[in-house]
Amino acid sequence: MLWINIDKSSDIPLIRQIYEQVRTGILSGEIKAGERLPATRELASELKVSRNVILEAYEQLYAEGYIESRQGSGTFVTEGLLWEQASIEPPLSLIDDAESKNTESDIIDFRSGIPDLHLFPKKIWGKLSQSVYNESTSSAFGYGNPEGRLELRQALCNYLLKTRGVRCKPEQLVITSGATQALSLVAKLLISPGDEVIIEDPVTHEIQTIFSSAGASLCPIPVDAYGMKTELISKYKKPSFVFVTPSHQFPLGGILPVQRRLQLIQLARTSGCYIVEDDYDSEFRYNGTPISSLQGLDPSKAIYIGTFSKNLSPALRLGYLILPFQLIERCRNLKWFTDLHTPSLEQLTLARFIEEGHLERHIRKMKKIYQKRRETLIKCLELYFKDSINILGDATGLHLIGEFIAIKFSDEVMNKILKHGVRVYPVELHTIKKSIHLNKIIMGYGNLTHEEIKEGIKRLSMALNKK
Ligand SMILES: Cc1ncc(COP(=O)(O)O)c(C=O)c1O
Repeated sequence: MLWINIDKSSDIPLIRQIYEQVRTGILSGEIKAGERLPATRELASELKVSRNVILEAYEQLYAEGYIESRQGSGTFVTEGLLWEQASIEPPLSLIDDAESKNTESDIIDFRSGIPDLHLFPKKIWGKLSQSVYNESTSSAFGYGNPEGRLELRQALCNYLLKTRGVRCKPEQLVITSGATQALSLVAKLLISPGDEVIIEDPVTHEIQTIFSSAGASLCPIPVDAYGMKTELISKYKKPSFVFVTPSHQFPLGGILPVQRRLQLIQLARTSGCYIVEDDYDSEFRYNGTPISSLQGLDPSKAIYIGTFSKNLSPALRLGYLILPFQLIERCRNLKWFTDLHTPSLEQLTLARFIEEGHLERHIRKMKKIYQKRRETLIKCLELYFKDSINILGDATGLHLIGEFIAIKFSDEVMNKILKHGVRVYPVELHTIKKSIHLNKIIMGYGNLTHEEIKEGIKRLSMALNKK
């Protein structure tokens, strides 16, 4: 007799339970090829279920070829179905996912680039989203264009000209799933295997991976307090492009001065390469208005990337790419064959959010909040570490750098810090040339309260000052 367990209280229908167990038994070899299955009447009485349930389960197994009937002699397992099951246990690396990190409530996490997730403008967004769903014509619910909704591209052009000095027409924009997808599209657009890509060092290791996995040979240029040291570029004669974060170098925080910007544009003009500008968090500049974009200096040579992950929410997965005219058509094609387009209704909601002035208002409000958190963080660092720390790159954005005079953030030190219930991020994670920035950590403060910042720095000092 077959060994079948059924659970009559389960939500899974009995037919499905029986079918699954026989099928698994056959594939695992527990029920052998050629073995005769019990007659339906017999099995029904054994399991105390109606005969129809067994008939239907067997019917399904017949239909999928697991069993066959032989005239007059019964139902048999088909030959040749032994199958080694693939493991469904996730590898350990997948268990430690972003979601589980978010729920480690005791650890104070200074992760960079996270805006305050409690202060997302839910009410306004919800209202606008509802009106977009109610008022949009049916075509908005169908497939759209790869470059995204015109309403959003138009709203962005106006907004970016006003706030960032970006000069573009709506046709030059492609709406993407965050800056990350924009970077992947740039990689596909511009990199052939072996091409040289000039890149800031340090720079996020995700960006390094996006470019190098497209076949680029990365040419790291060191970064100082003013961003990329552009005077060191000249040895590379034919780069495909230069990647920079000129308004707030990630992670060290420098702002690229105009002389260096002009040098980059000059290089693009003479060598024929592009400058890829990643403008991920520049709206949050604390001592004045945001620095103008590099793109505005020569829109024919610069590719501009922006995101709503820092000024609104990373969960929206909304970003954009502004291209010189000669690259637009190929980029639209690439986007189409990647994911057709970014979700249209979210784009329409964002377009209204920008047009009605909510984005500018939200940024103004958040800038004041982040500025105060930044002050609290700086005060605490100065209080606990006095002159054993320098604070760098704090003029803009949602993170700053702590440079410690006498500490190297080795794995051992990082473990000690974590054991004290605080998580910080070594700059070394993002370096190409190793061992230059061992004494620096990245500290994000966007999603931490004043109390969390104070407690986090107290814990950090306990971890680092304890002999
Ligand atoms: C420098 C830089 N560029 C781009 C991104 C990616 O942002 P997005 O969430 O828009 O993909 C990040 C994320 O933190 C970043 O730090």
